[in-house]
Amino acid sequence: MSATKGLEGVVAASTSISSIIDDTLTYVGYDIDDLAENASFEEVVYLLWYRRLPNAIELEDLKIQLAANASIPAAVVDHIKSYPIKQVHPMAALRSAISFLGLFDEEADDQSEEANFRKAIRIQAKIPTLVTAFSRIRKGLEPVAPRKDFGFAENFLYMLTGSEPDSIAVEAFNKALVLHADHELNASTFTARVCVATLSDVYSGVTAAIGALKGPLHGGANEQVMKMLTEIGSVENVESYINNKIANKEKIMGFGHRVYRLGDPRAKHLREMSEKLTKLTGESKLYDMSVKIEALVTSQKNIPPNVDFYSASVYHSLGIDHDLFTPIFAVSRVSGWLAHILEQYANNRLIRPRADYVGPNKQQYIKLEDR
Ligand code: CMC
Repeated sequence: MSATKGLEGVVAASTSISSIIDDTLTYVGYDIDDLAENASFEEVVYLLWYRRLPNAIELEDLKIQLAANASIPAAVVDHIKSYPIKQVHPMAALRSAISFLGLFDEEADDQSEEANFRKAIRIQAKIPTLVTAFSRIRKGLEPVAPRKDFGFAENFLYMLTGSEPDSIAVEAFNKALVLHADHELNASTFTARVCVATLSDVYSGVTAAIGALKGPLHGGANEQVMKMLTEIGSVENVESYINNKIANKEKIMGFGHRVYRLGDPRAKHLREMSEKLTKLTGESKLYDMSVKIEALVTSQKNIPPNVDFYSASVYHSLGIDHDLFTPIFAVSRVSGWLAHILEQYANNRLIRPRADYVGPNKQQYIKLEDR
């Protein structure tokens, strides 16, 4: 019995939610390029949860439900205020806050399909409120209540800043949310499925997934990309910085993927957005640096950028704090986690693989006083 390191190539679940075949990503059979150009994030949420696009009435109903459920209990706000706010990473805060939020959900342990769908709505609706409340509290500001007349993307930006975002920002943010919503059996989604396959509850599954997304090999990479761009500082410095990294065999954040070989189909959309937005903010330098990094890494290592690479300059251009980039990933990806959690419950079997034991055998116990 030998192990496949990192489960590479192992097919661990059947799903009808999303697929990556021949470097093409689809949600329920719809090409990500098509969705990125045309769909609202709410349409994608509906698509992932119900496996079909909503009609106008169904979409409106989902929007109303998301807006109606976006508020969080005052006790959760107080809880966030109790965090050692200066030292807490927003992903750690989100992980704790979502778990705490679950304590207030009277249906937390109701495993019926109807109750699980209602929880999915509540979690999807409240996650932006948790992230933005944390961001404001640590700046000494009061959280901004969500607006019922705003769509999902608009509400997030509004709650973050307290002012109405412009249409360019809303459009860009919506597209970023669409691009991040689901991604087959990525690490955090797998984590969520493993968790709920024990018949644990939805909040536990989402909390576990947030923990997995936090790592820099997964969602945490987008924040690291921004750190790298800040460290490099200018287009002139790119070559020496990247060459140095490559010479030291260090990983370059925002590049590479376990599944894609020719390239991540989401990256080109973010690249276009990065070009447009950095021009608008007068920080084209960030885009120019990114393009130069991409040219160097692809020519020397033949490793293309992934979704996280250009999303860093996109979020920066939207005025978002760099350590909120990964929580934003969670705000979108929770739609996929919830879809997979519901799919897992619907056809559940405990996920319990085996390990290849490589430790010592036939050891004799030695009494404590003899050691
Ligand atoms: N920079 C430099 N070398 C790399 C990179 C990179 N970003 N990614 C892979 N490699 C090299 C790696 O060093 C190894 O080389 P060698 O065979 O000579 O030792 C080879 O490519 C295979 O890498 P691996 O780490 O075994 O590949 P993996 O499939 O286990 O990991 C990955 C995939 C995404 C974790 C990896 O590419 C990586 O660490 N990338 C940087 C972090 C990152 O951007 N993560 C975001 C992933 S996509 C979206 C998301 O999930 O958030």
